[in-house]
Amino acid sequence: MTALTLSTAGAATLRADALVVGVAKGAKGPVVAPGAEAVDKAFDGKLADVLETLGACGAEGEVTKLPAPSGLKAPVVLAVGLGRAPERDGAYDAEALRRAAGSAARTLSGSKKAGFALPTESAEDAGAIAEGALLGAYAFTAYQGGEDRIAPKGAKNKGPKQPLAEVALLGAKPRDKAYKAAAERAVAVAEEINRARDLINTPPNDLYPESFAAVATAAGKEHGVKVQVLDEKALVKGGFGGLLGVGQGSTHGPRLVRLAYTHPKAEKTLALVGKGITYDSGGISLKPAGHNETMKCDMSGAAAVFATVVAASRLGLRVNVTGWLALAENMPSGNATRPGDVLRMYSGKTVEVLNTDAEGRLVLADALTRASEENPDAIVDVATLTGAMVLALGNRTFGVMSNDDAFRTSIHETAEEVGEASWPMPLPADLRKGMDSPTADIANMGERMGGGLVAGLFLKEFVGEGIAWAHLDIAGPAFHEGAPYGYTPKGGTGSSVRTLVRLAERTADGDLG
Ligand code: BES
Ligand code: MN
Ligand code: ZN
Repeated sequence: MTALTLSTAGAATLRADALVVGVAKGAKGPVVAPGAEAVDKAFDGKLADVLETLGACGAEGEVTKLPAPSGLKAPVVLAVGLGRAPERDGAYDAEALRRAAGSAARTLSGSKKAGFALPTESAEDAGAIAEGALLGAYAFTAYQGGEDRIAPKGAKNKGPKQPLAEVALLGAKPRDKAYKAAAERAVAVAEEINRARDLINTPPNDLYPESFAAVATAAGKEHGVKVQVLDEKALVKGGFGGLLGVGQGSTHGPRLVRLAYTHPKAEKTLALVGKGITYDSGGISLKPAGHNETMKCDMSGAAAVFATVVAASRLGLRVNVTGWLALAENMPSGNATRPGDVLRMYSGKTVEVLNTDAEGRLVLADALTRASEENPDAIVDVATLTGAMVLALGNRTFGVMSNDDAFRTSIHETAEEVGEASWPMPLPADLRKGMDSPTADIANMGERMGGGLVAGLFLKEFVGEGIAWAHLDIAGPAFHEGAPYGYTPKGGTGSSVRTLVRLAERTADGDLG
C-alpha cells in the first residue's frame, strides 16, 4: 500500500526518485503551475520553454519525464498536464488535480518515493492531490509473478511492478489541522476504494458469496463495523425468495450481509444496499460469449457499499451507516431458477421471473425490503444493474433515480462535488405496466426501451412507504476496460464510493432533509 506524507522539505532539497510538477495550457503555450517555483528555478526559470520544446502543451493526461538539473536532489522531474490554466487568481479544479496526481503516480509505479509539487491553495486541494495519487498508484497484482516451473534454473520471475511506495505532498502545511484532516480523509477514502477495487478484480472462482462475507467480517472487526451474515439456512427461514431464487443455481449459496457503523451522537441513519452478484452468467437465460468475460464486476455495488461503511467508521462520522450486501452467484444448472418460475419475495410479493439475467433487481428487492424494516432516514442502492444504462450514459457516468426529486438532485450534486460523473434519470410511471404479469404480482422484466428505468421502477416497489430512496446504476463506470487514465485503472474502479462517503458526511452535517 502506498504511504502518504506531508513533507516539510522544499522541492529542491527533497530526497526522492522524482518530483511531480503541474503544467497547464496557457494562451501562448504551456505554463508551469504554482507549487513548482523551486523546480522552475533549478531550470533557470525555463521549465515552460523546455516543456514546449519537448512538445508538451499542458493538456489533461499529458505526462512528460525530464532529467532533473543540478540543484535538485531528485533525479527526475515529471510534468503532468492540468488542462486549461485558470483565469487570473482562479484556483485549479479539484478533479483536474486529482487526475493529474493519478497519472503521475501511475507513471511512477516501481519507484520508491515521489514529491508532489502541484498547486495547493487549500486543504481541499491537498486532499484531492492525495486522493488522486493514492488511487492512481493502485495496481492489482495478487495473481501475477507466480513461480515459473519451466524457466531455466536461476531465471527469476520478477513479477509485476509494485505501486509507488510513498507519496510526499510538498504543498500541504504539515502542521495545519485542516491539511492534516484532509490528508487523513484522503488516505481512508482511497484505501477503501482500493479495497473495493481488489474485491471487484478478484476472480470469481475465489470471490463468491461466502468468501465475500468472510472478507467483510474480518474487515468489520478490524475497523469497528458490526457484521452479521445470513447464510442460506437463515435466508430460507426468513423467506428471502429473491436472493434464494437467484443463488440456487450455484454451488456457492447466497448470503445477505448486514454491516453497521454507529456513532453515539448520530441523529440520522443512512442505509446503503449493494448488488453483490459475484458472477453473472445470466443463469438459464445465459449471456452469449462476449457479454460474460467481465461479469465478475457484478458485485461492484456491494463492494462500494462495503468500502463506504468502513470509510465512514474510519472517519468517525457522526451518522449511522448501515450496509446491506445482497450476495449471490447467478449460474445455470439443474437447480437454477427457470424463466417462468415465480418467486415469493421477502416482502411477500410474488415475482414471475421472465429472464434469469435480470437477477440484480431480485436480490436487491429483498435487501431493500429488509433495509426498510429498520426505517432509516434514507436508502441508497448501488448496482451494476442494466446494459441499458450503459447505452444511455456511456462508460463513465452513472444514472441516479429516486422516489424523491430533491434527494435525486442532492445525490447528483454530491457526486459532482467529489468529481464523479452522474446524471439524474426519471422513473416514468407508464413503464410499470410492461411488468404486469398474468401469474404473479409483477414480472422481473418489462419493455426493452428504457430498460434502466424499468429496473428502477421494479426496485421502487420494494422500498418501504415514506422512505426517501435513490438508486445508482453504475453498470457503465464500475469496470474500466480501456487504457488507464488519470486515477482510473483498468478493471474495478470503485465507482460511487466517493459520492457515498460524501453523502454520509453531508447527512452527518445535517445537510440532507
Ligand atoms: N449485470 C447485468 C448488467 C450489466 C451489463 C452490468 C453490462 C455491467 C455491464 C444485469 O444483471 C443484466 O444482465 N441486465 C440485463 C437485464 C435484462 C435481461 C432485462 C440487461 O441489461 O441486459
Ligand atoms: Mn444479469
Ligand atoms: Zn447482473
